[in-house]
Amino acid sequence: MSRVVVSNHPLIQHKLTLLRSATTEPKKFRELVREITWLLAYEALDDLLLIDKTIDTPLCPMVGKELAERVGLIPILRAGMGMVGAMLEVLPMAEVWHIGLYRDHKTLAPVEYYNKLPVEPTVQVCLILDPMLATGGSAVATVDILKRWGAKRIKFLGLIAAPEGVQRMQAAHPDVDIHIAAVDERLTDGSDGRPAGYIVPGLGDAGDRQYGTG
Ligand code: URA
Repeated sequence: MSRVVVSNHPLIQHKLTLLRSATTEPKKFRELVREITWLLAYEALDDLLLIDKTIDTPLCPMVGKELAERVGLIPILRAGMGMVGAMLEVLPMAEVWHIGLYRDHKTLAPVEYYNKLPVEPTVQVCLILDPMLATGGSAVATVDILKRWGAKRIKFLGLIAAPEGVQRMQAAHPDVDIHIAAVDERLTDGSDGRPAGYIVPGLGDAGDRQYGTG
């Protein structure tokens, strides 16, 4: 079974509360998404393989380490785009591949409208980026696409998950680890007049809040 790693790091939990607050403006919201992603990435990439690398310091030669694996970033459009900048700060050599999925608002099912993956995998580790693991539909569909492409090691990196999304991902892809800052209570079901499929308490629509829309 995959690991669900919920970070209890104080910096992440402090920033997550600021992120959730309805009064946080888009500029601050984007900064917080970037900062939390940076911190989560540090934990999520703790198993990347290293090889020895001989260098000269100003004093003497020494054997240091360098990353032996290439990482591909797959942001789920559009909210996942806000996490890419932070990831590229941590991993400047990462490749960024785009898969576009939208949620059909009636069925909540993911619909693929864009796919720019190269013919064959060019990376050893794929990191799917989406702030919200809600129903899990888009994340599971993205893993489906990546596995058909030939990806072997896939991880999911998000900010907030619903229990339903975690369960769906674990059922469909038990080999995909989930790195997240919080698992919330539930999803809205549409019965109270609010749109269905939103995480409660959540933070609202992560795309709208980053880009000032909605
Ligand atoms: N997508 C969002 O942006 N927010 C949610 O709560 C669920 C899905």
